[in-house]
Amino acid sequence: MAKMRIDKLLANMGIGTRKEVKNFIKKGLVSVNGRIIKDNSLLVNTDLDTILFEGKKINYQEFIYIMMNKPQGIISATYDPIEKTVIDLLPNELKARHPFPVGRLDKDTEGLLIITNDGELAHKLLSPKKKVIKKYYVEIQGFVTENDIDSFAKGIVFKDGYKTLPAKLEILSSCDISKVYVYITEGKYHQIKRMFESIGKKAIYLKRLAMGNLQLDEKLQPGEWRILSDQELYLLKNSI
Ligand code: URA
Repeated sequence: MAKMRIDKLLANMGIGTRKEVKNFIKKGLVSVNGRIIKDNSLLVNTDLDTILFEGKKINYQEFIYIMMNKPQGIISATYDPIEKTVIDLLPNELKARHPFPVGRLDKDTEGLLIITNDGELAHKLLSPKKKVIKKYYVEIQGFVTENDIDSFAKGIVFKDGYKTLPAKLEILSSCDISKVYVYITEGKYHQIKRMFESIGKKAIYLKRLAMGNLQLDEKLQPGEWRILSDQELYLLKNSI
């Protein structure tokens, strides 16, 4: 049984700030189980109580789960004094739920970004122990060879001496600009760019296509987002 203050619940659902919500309650815009309430500190049961705001039912969900196709030029952070962040692309009612991106994509990387306020799930998805596979589509300047596949499979040694975990490299086409898929289970800073750099190649375009069992919805244009379906959330949770 989950009990919560009515003003907190309504603020969490994006109805307004705590102060605004207090005013709405004073004005009699909120009812619980058919009765207008005036006490903003009233404890409600989020599973059982029927809460209406301006006559509309509020279905409380503790966590939100968003799939975004991150565009280039936007940073994967919750706040930045200068740069635009992925959170800036969300409407105020979702921002009010304090979501954050699960891990980081570089500013110039596109693709699947999960945004949530479920800290426990985020922590598990990012835990090195869980080895969640991230799939990327990558374009490389110049040829990519079978040798490179072997190097990725063995683990790549960075300039600073760090050796990556084994990664899978799948060549789609090898020419002036080669196209590959890369599957990694880590999330080191600039990981894929540095892996190619260490074998003398340059990654010029990166797009994340999947995280665990969850795939990017290709219908989402860069900068677009949507709430995960129940099925997708199930797939994501089953990746850890
Ligand atoms: N590897 C990179 O180099 N950049 C990303 O954004 C993700 C993986």
